[in-house]
Amino acid sequence: MSKEKLKVLIVEDNPTDALVVKKRLQKDSAFDYEVTHVVSGEEALLSMENNTYDIALLDYNLPKMGGMEILAEIKRKNIEVPVVMVTGQGDEIVAAQLIKEGALDYLPKRENYEDAVPFMIRKTIAEFRSMLERARLQKEIALRKEELEKTNAKLMELDRMKSDFVANVVHELRTPLTIIKGNLDNIDKGFAGEVHPKQKEIMGDIFRVISRLSRLVNDLLDLSKIESGKMELNKECLDIVKLAEETAKTFETLAASKKIGIVREFPSKQVIVKADRDKLTQVFVNFIGNAVKFTDRGNVTVRIIDLEGEAQVEIQDTGPGIPEDQTDKIFDKFVRVVAEKKEGTGLGLPIAKDIIVLHKGRVRVESETGKGSRFIFVIPK
Ligand SMILES: Nc1ncnc2c1ncn2[C@@H]1O[C@H](COP(=O)(O)OP(=O)(O)OP(=O)(O)O)[C@@H](O)[C@H]1O
Ligand SMILES: [Mg+2]
Repeated sequence: MSKEKLKVLIVEDNPTDALVVKKRLQKDSAFDYEVTHVVSGEEALLSMENNTYDIALLDYNLPKMGGMEILAEIKRKNIEVPVVMVTGQGDEIVAAQLIKEGALDYLPKRENYEDAVPFMIRKTIAEFRSMLERARLQKEIALRKEELEKTNAKLMELDRMKSDFVANVVHELRTPLTIIKGNLDNIDKGFAGEVHPKQKEIMGDIFRVISRLSRLVNDLLDLSKIESGKMELNKECLDIVKLAEETAKTFETLAASKKIGIVREFPSKQVIVKADRDKLTQVFVNFIGNAVKFTDRGNVTVRIIDLEGEAQVEIQDTGPGIPEDQTDKIFDKFVRVVAEKKEGTGLGLPIAKDIIVLHKGRVRVESETGKGSRFIFVIPK
């Protein structure tokens, strides 16, 4: 294998010293050295500007332009070269200053100091190369970061446009829906003439579809408000036990028609949390609603645990459960577990989660397929 060629610049006014170092390098088998020798700082700078050196050994004590001055010029002219300063005996005290000015190392001119030169060159070049590599990587990281920031800003703008679009469309859907519902109501009540039983039956179907559509429109509107940061919480101190009881009660008839019980496990005392009444009710409706909807036998348990600084709510059911690989996804928009053929859009859980997070709470689910699910959330007091 051919050896790597290293171009070395020796800046030394004493020809004997230069020759000693040159000879020592010829004996070193690690590299193939190409040595250039100049005798003054001016010459050194000129040579460095016109050639690329792998390393410069710079005598600190030069008659005219001294080591420190040459270092400053190298920096000013942006010459990329690692410098080892060769200092005289007793010059060690300036070493720290030399390093500060950009020299990578220094070598005192002691007896046989030339023997240390090959190692010093190897070490300094390795250090310089890793410095260059670090600088290159840092530059690349900065560039990538800038690119990412630009892309991110663009995506956020697109996302905002999408949210605005959805919000506008959904908002526009509300008015005609209200009109359709109102008119249908009038027909149903006989204001437009007698309604036959068959017509009433068909209208019943239409009402059901319309109320589904209204719910979807309201859910989408809620989500777009949350996503654009426009959902505001009207927080008040309220008893979460009472709120849970009120919501559970509204599901009693539906649960009874499916022969499921709604079990309450509440603390005997009230548990006061700071929350938005309507929004927290919506959270309970979504969780209890899901539990009753997806469960066909057994019970739905609504449990409240009074903890230090927060209230923990658990909605547990004996329904089909949720496959493990789906438990994270169900909190995303429009995600529904395919096997559950129940009515719905897949917006209830993402809304509930967003509302909980807005209250600085947390939510998670524990589930075992075939056995049931337990949705757990906490709301700070
Ligand atoms: N208690 C539960 N038991 C079993 N699966 C559940 C339960 N709660 C939610 N899931 C699963 O998570 C999915 C998402 O629930 P989510 O409430 O977001 O939507 P949905 O109830 O299908 O529709 P929507 O709430 O918009 O009417 C459900 O479709 C169902 O597959
Ligand atoms: Mg739901």
